[in-house]
Amino acid sequence: MSLHNPISVRKRHPLIGAELTGVDLRCPLDNNLFERIHSLWMENLVLVFPNQSLNDEQHIKFGSQFGELEVHPSLAHRSSENREIYRVSNVDESGNIIQSTETAWQYINLSWLWHTDSSFRKIPSKGSILHGIETTKKGGHTLFANMYEAYEGLETSIKKRLDSLYVMHDHDYIIKQSRDLSKKSDKGSYENLPPVRHPLIQIHPVTGRRSLFLSPHTMDYIVGMERNESRELLDELIHHATSEKFVYKHIWENDDVVMWDNRCTMHAVEPFDNTSVRRIMHRVTLVGDNQPISIEST
Ligand code: SIN
Repeated sequence: MSLHNPISVRKRHPLIGAELTGVDLRCPLDNNLFERIHSLWMENLVLVFPNQSLNDEQHIKFGSQFGELEVHPSLAHRSSENREIYRVSNVDESGNIIQSTETAWQYINLSWLWHTDSSFRKIPSKGSILHGIETTKKGGHTLFANMYEAYEGLETSIKKRLDSLYVMHDHDYIIKQSRDLSKKSDKGSYENLPPVRHPLIQIHPVTGRRSLFLSPHTMDYIVGMERNESRELLDELIHHATSEKFVYKHIWENDDVVMWDNRCTMHAVEPFDNTSVRRIMHRVTLVGDNQPISIEST
């Protein structure tokens, strides 16, 4: 540790995730500190900042230093005070556990499935920053998969086959995943979100590395492939990418802040009992800088 480089770094997993201490996220980052955190982020994909007692305004300010923040399409999950705060919470703003029959819960429940944030947008999010406000150890751990390594772990012949494939991603696909939610006339209020086409292999705009771009939440089908064949291939790739060796499991402490790169990771939440366990997490989501870069386009 030195005055110029106050950060200590500890790997949380051999392939993905590092803990950073010695930085107070409530204070503005000077250029050196920003560059150091940014480069550690690019190297480790997921950064964990323990003991960060942030309010929402400080959370927004920290996130804004990395770029513009998204406003989530679901009105039901935005904080009533700060539209950039997405409440990934089973507790409402009055402090009550949201009943499992409610639309708001059923939508949040879908975030337990593997996904990358905002893959339903033409320009998906580049990263997300989640603050654990009221956390639990009775489930509710967040899993992060390294999608660079998932790509590297494929056989060469499979990589070649995937290089030129594109997937249709659709926000409605998420809704259809929930039998309860899809039956409801009040599914929440969303922006108009037409389906979008993304490459199955993407090139990271900063590191130049290739990764598998999967988001089971929104992946409807592979363009030009018969539906069953497409589903089978996507399911095989999801199974491969979520192998234990590629995955860091984050067990939350209150006031952990976790920042991940959506362009080379995907994440999921381990189930917890929604009737008895409270879990309040606030997220800011960074607007992406570009559409996912395909191999063809380089
Ligand atoms: C998310 O999907 O962004 C939230 C993950 C979590 O609740 O741990």
